[in-house]
Amino acid sequence: MDTLKGAKMNANYAPQSITPPLWLLAELTYKCPLHCVFCYNPLNYAQNSHELTTAQWVDVMQQARKLGAAQLGFSGGEPLQRPDLEELVEEGSRLGYYTNLITSGVGLTEPRIARMKEAGLDHIQLSFQDSTKEMNDFLSSTKTFDLKMRVAKLIKQYDYPMVLNVVLHRHNLDHVGRIIQMADDMGVEYLELANTQYYGWGLVNRAQLLPDREQLVRAEAVVNDYREKFGHKMRIFFVVPDYFETRPKACMNGWASVFLGIAPDGSALPCHAAKTLPGIEFPNVTEHSLQHIWYDSDAFNKYRGDGWMKEPCRSCPEKDKDFGGCRCQALALTGDASNADPVCDKSPFHQTLQDIVAAAQSKPTVTSSDKPIVFRTDANSRALSGLAATGQFDPE
Ligand code: FES
Repeated sequence: MDTLKGAKMNANYAPQSITPPLWLLAELTYKCPLHCVFCYNPLNYAQNSHELTTAQWVDVMQQARKLGAAQLGFSGGEPLQRPDLEELVEEGSRLGYYTNLITSGVGLTEPRIARMKEAGLDHIQLSFQDSTKEMNDFLSSTKTFDLKMRVAKLIKQYDYPMVLNVVLHRHNLDHVGRIIQMADDMGVEYLELANTQYYGWGLVNRAQLLPDREQLVRAEAVVNDYREKFGHKMRIFFVVPDYFETRPKACMNGWASVFLGIAPDGSALPCHAAKTLPGIEFPNVTEHSLQHIWYDSDAFNKYRGDGWMKEPCRSCPEKDKDFGGCRCQALALTGDASNADPVCDKSPFHQTLQDIVAAAQSKPTVTSSDKPIVFRTDANSRALSGLAATGQFDPE
């Protein structure tokens, strides 16, 4: 077992200033019955056949709790593909975590939800792809709309607060009013309208998914209208995609600051998309303790603090607010993860982003673009695995 003592320290970051992880995300499996075009799983996920065992996940949860993690998310892939999910929920609950299941709903039968309620699961986040059956089923390449409706009823029946997540993009932004209506009819308490993040499969499909500015303005007006009229009934989170901003998001609240993700094979990650970053060896929980991984590993220290920053971030007065933005986006759009996130208008690459946004602007609202949409399937994953290795992909 590694210890802090004698371990290699990052010259840029004093260990005493590292705060403990707060959020443990257990990506239990990459297996998923859906094929969503914006999935954030790695492009080459199909190469991963190894998954941690039940005992290994329990050990990870125990170690992370000792480090200070308080919130535990179960995701994937589809976490319900793991038959030991209930056992893991029970252990998470026993350890005192606030537990959250992030699911497409596929596999959430009544016996399973009843068992998870008994095991102490606190929260379920259900995803829909759209308010229409046609678009929901198209974007996931499955016939799951009716099943999700049944699962939504089960979640209410078992007295969970209803948290609905819908990923937004060019194909459904004009449905926002209907999505809100659907959520309202279901008795949703929290509606997350999450604009697509352009990593992984979202990046591959960016030319198909990136909306135009007018669509966003219209959608935001609909959201604001609803909030004004019925805001007390349902809370709506709507965040404009950062491609349309001039300052970057404080991605993950800073690299390895609060978030600790564990991939199905046990790789420890400071963000969902970190595996796209080349030249970083992400430590595995089967070889190192979480204490070592969080405090001492090169991967987790790589972008902590500001010692790694180049200009314009290094001398920027806002660097403590946005931490230079997103490393994965900087890599995807500039070829170097230590550049400023090009969302920032101080970045010399900001024009690249503006050109991408301008190209989306000139397309018809609902497009059958000449570039076919790529579904997240094992066959496509194998075909794209070479690109995944470089961390870069030119979706245009
Ligand atoms: Fe990796 Fe933003 S998603 S740092």
